[in-house]
Amino acid sequence: MNVAIFYFSGTGNTRMTADTYADLFRRAGHQVTTSSMEDCDQVGECDLILIGGPIYAGNMPDYVIQWVRKTVPPSQGTKAIIFTTSAGLANAHGVRSIGKKLVRKGYRVIDTQTYEMPRNFYIDKYAPTPKEEQRQQLTRMISQVGESLTNLKETGEMTFPENVLGIDLLADVFRIMAKSMGHNFHIDDSCVGCGKCEKNCPKANIRHAEKRYGSSCMMCTRCIHGCPVNAISYKGKKIEQYKVGN
Ligand SMILES: Cc1cc2nc3c(=O)[nH]c(=O)nc-3n(C[C@H](O)[C@H](O)[C@H](O)COP(=O)(O)O)c2cc1C
Repeated sequence: MNVAIFYFSGTGNTRMTADTYADLFRRAGHQVTTSSMEDCDQVGECDLILIGGPIYAGNMPDYVIQWVRKTVPPSQGTKAIIFTTSAGLANAHGVRSIGKKLVRKGYRVIDTQTYEMPRNFYIDKYAPTPKEEQRQQLTRMISQVGESLTNLKETGEMTFPENVLGIDLLADVFRIMAKSMGHNFHIDDSCVGCGKCEKNCPKANIRHAEKRYGSSCMMCTRCIHGCPVNAISYKGKKIEQYKVGN
């Protein structure tokens, strides 16, 4: 089977989950391609498509929703799996939003999974996930991917009867809020000028030489967690950086 995996990942949790899927599919003898949505504006033919992203404010980021709308072509029954990663399972509705869109495009959604992963968003009111819990979550994610692939044959075709307008509106509102929240980031004088924040920003929103953020932040927090010298603060506060898998 030809498996094509597409994901967006701000800080690495979703990428690691996508890589785990790829690894287990390959071990089962399938051909697999893995692409970040940032680098991909075309989806070719495949037997199974996987779409993955993090949860922001209860849904997949608007970035993922728009990518799926624009980039995933109509199909006549290609199988699909949708997965999200989030800091908690209670309000993680992203698989329903993307599921509905894929079914409308003619895909047969055969599985959805939500993976509880370390929190990357603690720049404001939340606390980071403790290290031991992080390790347990990563181990659990790997076995959950394994179980979901083992059970695939028994999973029937899924339907998404519920209205997703409300959660998609939430994603759109968060997209707008993120633009102004992004102005709370600040690059201080400990910056060594490596340009990593600018190069890696999915929205090309940072000018590191001018220590300036523009108005298209999506709040993925990749800049703050990825800075090699922790030179970026949020609302004047530095945080312990989250490094995937540490
Ligand atoms: C802007 C933002 C909003 C978030 N909102 C939620 C949320 O509503 N619920 C939740 O469980 N996790 C939330 N999270 C945590 C992430 O979904 C979680 O850490 C995810 O695994 C990050 O994936 P990534 O490393 O691939 O970017 C949020 C993270 C960010 C950056």
